[in-house]
Amino acid sequence: MMRQLLLVAATLAFACAASRADPAAPASEAAPAGPANQRQPSLADPEKSPSALLPKSEVTGKTPADVVAAAPLATINNPYTGQADKIEAGKAVFQGMGCPGCHGGNGGGGMCPPLTNETWVYGSDDDTLFRLITLGSDGLQKKGFIRVGMENIVGPMPPFGQLIQSDEQLFELLAYLRTLYRGSQKRVNW
Ligand code: HEC
Repeated sequence: MMRQLLLVAATLAFACAASRADPAAPASEAAPAGPANQRQPSLADPEKSPSALLPKSEVTGKTPADVVAAAPLATINNPYTGQADKIEAGKAVFQGMGCPGCHGGNGGGGMCPPLTNETWVYGSDDDTLFRLITLGSDGLQKKGFIRVGMENIVGPMPPFGQLIQSDEQLFELLAYLRTLYRGSQKRVNW
């Protein structure tokens, strides 16, 4: 299992570095026209990223894939944000799942986009990140999400919906991710 994960990470991480955005590329190729999914949050329109205002999600113990399939858009809201024991557990999930292989040990990026800055490719709210980690980039885009934020490295995030066992684990992971953020507090909408 671990070997398999490392292999996936290594192969895809290469894909990530190989597709480093070309600054000379025409803007039309880099920037999509506008959100196909009108409920998709973006930094330009933070009121559409309302995790902080939503009721907290129930922890069901179901797989992230099942939770994503059942929850209406913009309703998943991490009940564990800021809880020290959950953050500690989430750090172990982050390391165990091979996330550092692409995002760096402290999420600072490297081969793939950083998890620490104010740029969020699809939005910064809990609902969007829960879905992205579960479905991966391709799966998320199939649901109508487009890239609204541009990191300087563009590549596909693999789906973890089959590897992360439950919403509990993914909420722990998200709680840990939030502690990696180093951007402006004004941008915090979770
Ligand atoms: C194979 C490399 C790879 C692995 C492993 C990986 N990611 Fe990613 N991740 C990416 C790429 C590439 C993107 C950008 C996706 C896009 O542009 O569609 C991304 C995007 C993200 C984002 C959104 C970042 C932003 O700036 O909007 C989060 C959050 C994230 N990953 C979390 C994780 C977590 C948590 C794990 C471990 C469970 C993980 N990633 C494992 C490659 C990876």
